[in-house]
Amino acid sequence: MKKIIFALSAIIMITCAENTKNNTSDYKDKNAPIEDRIEHLISLMTLDEKIMQMNQWTYGKNANPNNIGEKMREVSPEIGSLLYRSTNPEYRNQIQKKAMTESRLGIPIIFGFDAIHGYRTIFPIPLAQASSWNTELVKESSAITAKESWLSGLDWTFSPMVDVARDARWGRVSEGYGEDTYANSAFAVAAVQGYQGSNLNEKYTIAACLKHFIGYSLSEGGRDYHYSDVSNQTLWETFMPPFEAGVNAGAATLMSGFNDISGIPASANHYTLTEVLKEKWKHDGFVVSDWGSVRNLVEQSVAKDLKEATQKAFMAGIEMDMVDNAYVDYLPELVAEGKVPMESIDEAVRRILRVKMKLGLFENPYVDVVSEKERYLLPEYLELAEQLSSESFVLLKNENETLPMTSKYKNLAIIGPMVKDSVHIMGFWEGMGRPEDVKTIYEGLEKEFKNKATLNYALGCDYDGDDESGFEAAIKAANNSDAIVLFLGEKRHWSGENGSRSTIALPKIQEDLVAALRKTNKPIILMLSSGRPLELIRLEKMADAIVEIWQPGTMAGPAVAGLLSGRHNPSGKLPMTFPQTTGQIPIYYNMRQAARPTLGHYQDIPRDPLYWFGHGLSYTTFDYSPIKLSSKKITKDQTLIAEVEVTNSGNLDGKESVLWFIKDPFASISRPIKELKHFDKKTIKVGEKVVYRFEINPERDLSFVDSKGNRHLESGDFYVIINDQKVHFELVE
Ligand code: NOJ
Repeated sequence: MKKIIFALSAIIMITCAENTKNNTSDYKDKNAPIEDRIEHLISLMTLDEKIMQMNQWTYGKNANPNNIGEKMREVSPEIGSLLYRSTNPEYRNQIQKKAMTESRLGIPIIFGFDAIHGYRTIFPIPLAQASSWNTELVKESSAITAKESWLSGLDWTFSPMVDVARDARWGRVSEGYGEDTYANSAFAVAAVQGYQGSNLNEKYTIAACLKHFIGYSLSEGGRDYHYSDVSNQTLWETFMPPFEAGVNAGAATLMSGFNDISGIPASANHYTLTEVLKEKWKHDGFVVSDWGSVRNLVEQSVAKDLKEATQKAFMAGIEMDMVDNAYVDYLPELVAEGKVPMESIDEAVRRILRVKMKLGLFENPYVDVVSEKERYLLPEYLELAEQLSSESFVLLKNENETLPMTSKYKNLAIIGPMVKDSVHIMGFWEGMGRPEDVKTIYEGLEKEFKNKATLNYALGCDYDGDDESGFEAAIKAANNSDAIVLFLGEKRHWSGENGSRSTIALPKIQEDLVAALRKTNKPIILMLSSGRPLELIRLEKMADAIVEIWQPGTMAGPAVAGLLSGRHNPSGKLPMTFPQTTGQIPIYYNMRQAARPTLGHYQDIPRDPLYWFGHGLSYTTFDYSPIKLSSKKITKDQTLIAEVEVTNSGNLDGKESVLWFIKDPFASISRPIKELKHFDKKTIKVGEKVVYRFEINPERDLSFVDSKGNRHLESGDFYVIINDQKVHFELVE
């Protein structure tokens, strides 16, 4: 690899040095239109220079200055992109300087990295963020991630992941926004807006990357990297909308997927990458392959060797090759052999240069260098992280108002492997987050309950294994306490990439610990930290209260402690259904109706899942008025206003998210039982009444797509649904 880059650089220098003297003013003219600048630059570039723009290499993990010097020598000044795994902005600037001054045309490098739910301030995992139903907070957290990333030398994050996910065995459910298409679309827009700001050209903004285009979450049986059988109807109806929403919000880039979409892998799929993305949606940025996914085309048996894989991936519409080095190795000969046209090369480079121009990299190739103290974990970042974490917690069960604990309990048994953890609580893709930055649950509780309650801590057991030696101490702590707060869950790598599991139940040792503690007859508050929905069929019966806290990140401790004390009133609602058992997967709220709706269910478990999508309790009570519609009949060009008044009838201020669904009972293509079309979260003080409103736009909210992506709006009956209310209206010609 190194040799090839050196060789290429040398050829470029020799063959082209003469060509461009005195001929570089236009593309460097920051006042000229971007498209003119790009065309001028392309006219000056050699084939090798163009191909180097399409190459993303990775920059070693080691931030040790001594090693970095050596690494830097390996980086060709002509390289298009670096996957930058150092936190040091100065090294980035040094490498960038090499590109600006030593490459023939001075084309800046774009530096990318996986800042998925935070860079150094780690926010809750995306699945948790979706539970908050607070797009504003998600946008703000993404803007903080962008700022910390930019100040560490990045221009680009490989986020958000907007793969609608319905199989909790697939570890990557943690990285997206759950089972619903509309929710994924809404959070895609929020994240893109947060990362990219209103102008990519400004400081502290970074390019977003919608991934993984497309259908990856259908990997068979939830096994990561596996084949995905996606019908065109499902492709258009379920998977395309979040990507389309992200593209319309201006997402600069997309990443292809590892999956094979019904026989044509996502990284060689001309239909999705070119016909849909570039031709139909008019996306003008670029697509990067996923790590090694060009090479994977050989494993996936659609290319006989890496050369053919290169041709297929490139011709399908992947402009940048992530770490395979395949484009550098094979595109020159593919062009020479006439298998890849020069116009396609130019078009690919045009797209990459366009993103670099929009980022302002030609004018401002360097990032500011400020101290780590000024860069990371600022008080306002931590405050937002705590807020987003606490809004993402979902109160699943709360019998006899066990929670909040306020002054009810004076002695608390605090038990479980998550209590003092500072690693797993950050979740997968923890960016540059460090365990030492994490406020652990124990620290949070100590602070929150100081002089209010005694904490009796015991580990109980490890995450897995069969060592029960800690049970005795846990039982003792429980016997000395008024209530048990039990923190169980998953290790970080049990979800995320390559984090599939055959069962979504917690390991037996954890369930056995709950059973052992149940015998003490003390109330059990079960706090679950996981990167996916869990199988709780046995645990649910043993717990008085259950809270899903997901993987909350840096501010786990204060957020959890605040929830237990009542300082934070929970307002999260599930973005993904919790099945009764793993065998009930797939089960999601917007399934299609069965031919015999009351029959055909599994005989050994209840028909419904344990907790449906949208489930989530509060410490207060919210009363809903009947839904009011502005009319019972509308035509296709009219708007229908639906309103509901929500009253906080309890004793604590709270936030309530109203999820609005539409049901279309008959259509030429069968429709899901109901579909989320709008949501809104508001604060409601004790005794206050707040009106929520949904303006139903027929074209947007009542239409559906066919298997080619064409929209249809059919008149007839419809229902608007909130919780258990269902109100009829009619769409007339
Ligand atoms: C592979 C993952 O699938 C993708 O999501 C990630 O962005 C790349 N690796 C880069 O780390």
